[in-house]
Amino acid sequence: MEISMADTEKKDVLILALESSCDETAAAVVKNGRTVLSNIISSQIDLHTLYGGVVPEIASRKHMEQINQVTEQALKEAGVTLDDITAVAVTYGPGLVGALLVGVAFAKSLAFAADKPLVGVHHIEGHISANYIENPDLEPPFTCLVVSGGHTNLVLVEDYGVYKIIGRTRDDAAGEAFDKVARVIGLGYPGGPKVDKLAKEGVADIELPKPHLDGMDFSFSGIKTAIINMHHKNPNVNRANLCMSFEKDVTEILLENTIKAAKSLNITKIALAGGVSANSFIRQEFLKLQNKGYKIYYPELNLCTDNAAMIASAGYYNYISGKISDMYLNAIPNLKI
Ligand code: KG4
Ligand code: ZN
Repeated sequence: MEISMADTEKKDVLILALESSCDETAAAVVKNGRTVLSNIISSQIDLHTLYGGVVPEIASRKHMEQINQVTEQALKEAGVTLDDITAVAVTYGPGLVGALLVGVAFAKSLAFAADKPLVGVHHIEGHISANYIENPDLEPPFTCLVVSGGHTNLVLVEDYGVYKIIGRTRDDAAGEAFDKVARVIGLGYPGGPKVDKLAKEGVADIELPKPHLDGMDFSFSGIKTAIINMHHKNPNVNRANLCMSFEKDVTEILLENTIKAAKSLNITKIALAGGVSANSFIRQEFLKLQNKGYKIYYPELNLCTDNAAMIASAGYYNYISGKISDMYLNAIPNLKI
């Protein structure tokens, strides 16, 4: 049978995805899970900076203001209309409930109006899937270190959409620790990128308490508290050295557990995901593992932090494996993976 051009084109799966779990309102169109046609992000960071962190009520209101135009822009930049879209994907948890609700309600109304399937996506699954966009050769199984503002997990990605958590933080998420240290030493919000920048001017000359946990769980509160106490006792302590010492120890903890996981699973493919994986020192130190036989993957910088392209990628794998949601899909702030 002859396959016409139209038939081949019909096979493309175009996912329109929406993300509004925290302080970015985002929409994207992605083809076949890996090719980004558009990726629009409207950040609220400037607004929340005034308060030193995300204010949930303000986040929800801003999402409501932005979501329509961000979606229109995503369709326009991708050069498609809602009719061309195969399915609408949306983050339905975990995250701030009011913020999530805006995306979920909007996605439901789009899917209903355009008569398209609706696909609910777990936010962390999205972060992991950002690696599929960046690395066309990446296939499961692999070990993924997810480090964001709300989560720090070591995940075995057994297959597309099949995950096993093998390590988690017992207290702060890595990004949370970065943000708190930055706030206390006066760098402002969001702290991660600011600590990253200042650390480059410092040396790691401060000894910090290392957590001693069995297994592959993480703890960052001891290191964070030690830095905060040090700064309170002596506000003139060199901030660049504080940042570098903090960053070095956090990286060591992340590396140690990730290597432990990869060894115990006998998997040499390691992916990084989440906002903290944008950290230049962490990326540099993980890359060194390539000399020891590991293959390291991470997303480009704007795919590390919250975006909708990653949600579209995860949504694609859900869609092709038949994981479709119905109109009862609801926001679940503490959704488990
Ligand atoms: O993944 P993400 O955008 O949102 C959540 O799902 O939480 O991650 C945001 C977190 C924040 O804590 C931010 O400070 C951190 O990622 N972050 C960084 C860097 N860029 C963002 N942390 C360290 N170094 C960076 N360059
Ligand atoms: Zn995130």
